[in-house]
Amino acid sequence: SVCSKPPEVLFATINVVKTVYDVGEEIEYTCRPGFVPNNGQRKYTCQPTGKWPLNTLLCLPVTCPPPPLSEFGVLSYRHVKPGNISYYMDTIIFECVPPLALIGNETATCQANGTWSSIPECRAVTCPAPSGIENGFLNFAVRRTYHYNETVSFSCQSRYVLEGPKHSRCEKTGNWSTKPTCKEPCKMPVKKAVVLYEGEKKRVQSDLKEGILHGETVSFFCKNKEKSCAYTVPVQCVDGNLTLPACFKGMSQANFKTDPSDMKPCEDHE
Ligand SMILES: *[C@@H]1O[C@H](CO)[C@@H](O)[C@H](O)[C@H]1NC(C)=O
Ligand SMILES: *[C@@H]1O[C@H](CO)[C@@H](O)[C@H](O)[C@H]1NC(C)=O
Ligand SMILES: *[C@@H]1O[C@H](CO)[C@@H](O)[C@H](O)[C@H]1NC(C)=O
Ligand SMILES: *[C@@H]1O[C@H](CO)[C@@H](O)[C@H](O)[C@H]1NC(C)=O
Ligand SMILES: *[C@@H]1O[C@H](CO)[C@@H](O)[C@H](O)[C@H]1NC(C)=O
Ligand SMILES: *[C@@H]1O[C@H](CO)[C@@H](O)[C@H](O)[C@H]1NC(C)=O
Repeated sequence: SVCSKPPEVLFATINVVKTVYDVGEEIEYTCRPGFVPNNGQRKYTCQPTGKWPLNTLLCLPVTCPPPPLSEFGVLSYRHVKPGNISYYMDTIIFECVPPLALIGNETATCQANGTWSSIPECRAVTCPAPSGIENGFLNFAVRRTYHYNETVSFSCQSRYVLEGPKHSRCEKTGNWSTKPTCKEPCKMPVKKAVVLYEGEKKRVQSDLKEGILHGETVSFFCKNKEKSCAYTVPVQCVDGNLTLPACFKGMSQANFKTDPSDMKPCEDHE
């Protein structure tokens, strides 16, 4: 005779899976990860009667004990899932009492062997008084050390444009996070010209004496001699740099000729 399928045990796998087993054939159960066997039998032999012996195995879920919090109450944690008991793969999230910084992994996972993957610690972190930035300044800065997660903010001098995050934060490393930079305005690279600025014709020599700000654009007028028409070429101020378009010739020296800005616009310029 033969044995048919052995009984299923919850949360366990069998090493040999068949529909029929020979008399004397042995099978072995293994609990899935995160489950541990009770002290029941794991191995069973197909009996001459064609029956399996009484199955006594149970696979019980692993639990992780609450993590040891040895520090003076500065480290705390919460369960991600509701309930007080942590099973395999459950996670908890740690927190430190401000201004202490959490060093290590903020989350811990209950492992198959009933231990937590890691437990972080809380440390006092300070950053030195922040240094200033070029062409800018710290707002409301007091010369002192700062604690973890405190922030300072920066501004730029007049006509400089702030780029990057306005705020810098005291980080866990004791360093300040990336500070902004102040981008230089551009002087107009010609003494006299009529240009397009914010959609309007402006005179460089009077309207744009101060130049333009970083990131702003002006358009220069260029001449197409063959078609005797004018087209505009936009150029952008990039941190104090503004490059004239190659086609720009400036105002006619002798003012008998028409300035390009007064010529009729080209239909399309190639
Ligand atoms: C969880 O723990 C709290 C405090 O230790 C207790 O009051 C509550 O009854 C517990 N809940 C369960 C489901 O065990
Ligand atoms: C933190 O631990 C979790 C497991 O709980 C892991 O998945 C993650 O990669 C870890 N993060 C870091 C930065 O080590
Ligand atoms: C528990 O399992 C983890 C991951 O497999 C391992 O790193 C750790 O050493 C084990 N701890 C114990 C006490 O067996
Ligand atoms: C850091 O400060 C911000 C507010 O600026 C706050 O939202 C955040 O929770 C703080 N982080 C920590 C770890 O204290
Ligand atoms: C942070 O400061 C440490 C010294 O305290 C230095 O070694 C490290 O390079 C700094 N990290 C960054 C990202 O600036
Ligand atoms: C202007 O551009 C040049 C080359 O592209 C660069 O080396 C220089 O630093 C720039 N000047 C400013 C003020 O950014």
